[in-house]
Amino acid sequence: MNDGIVLVGFMGSGKSSVAQALSQQTSLPVVDLDRLIETTTGQTIPTIFSTQGEREFRHIETTCLRQVINMPAIISTGGGIVLSEENRHILKASFKTVVWLQADFDTYYKRITEDKQNSRPIANQSSKNDLAKIEQERRVLYEAVADVVIDVSKLTVNQIASQMLESI
Ligand code: S3P
Repeated sequence: MNDGIVLVGFMGSGKSSVAQALSQQTSLPVVDLDRLIETTTGQTIPTIFSTQGEREFRHIETTCLRQVINMPAIISTGGGIVLSEENRHILKASFKTVVWLQADFDTYYKRITEDKQNSRPIANQSSKNDLAKIEQERRVLYEAVADVVIDVSKLTVNQIASQMLESI
């Protein structure tokens, strides 16, 4: 069982920032799965979506998830990691602590629209209503893999990291 911490949650839940704060508090390195996908393929996530499609992206995502199974690290995942049964199984079977960073849809949406650094194909292609539906559908999947759930809507990144370390 991997003793690291895996962060799951919808786009805009703050996985990457919380991972950095956790890394500082635990001295474990951060592995950002989206960045690993980009370095492995030599392509950005939007390019993979536009040239190869979501199906292929999900395939690569699973391959990269398998690569980090034995890495003691803070692993920040993409929001769609829970979509496949295979990934959910890997998360449950291989990692001691999977944390769902949970908030209400409006919190995610505000952060997604304000974030000019990351281009998110799923968010760019969807209306606000469609994105809200996607978020609703995924809740049960995050819940299925989570050992710990943290409400991130009213806490700072450092508070989230501290609360998480207290509860595991
Ligand atoms: C996705 C979320 C993204 C990235 C890709 C697909 C999703 O990661 O993996 O654009 O399906 O929710 P973030 O959650 O880090 O934005």
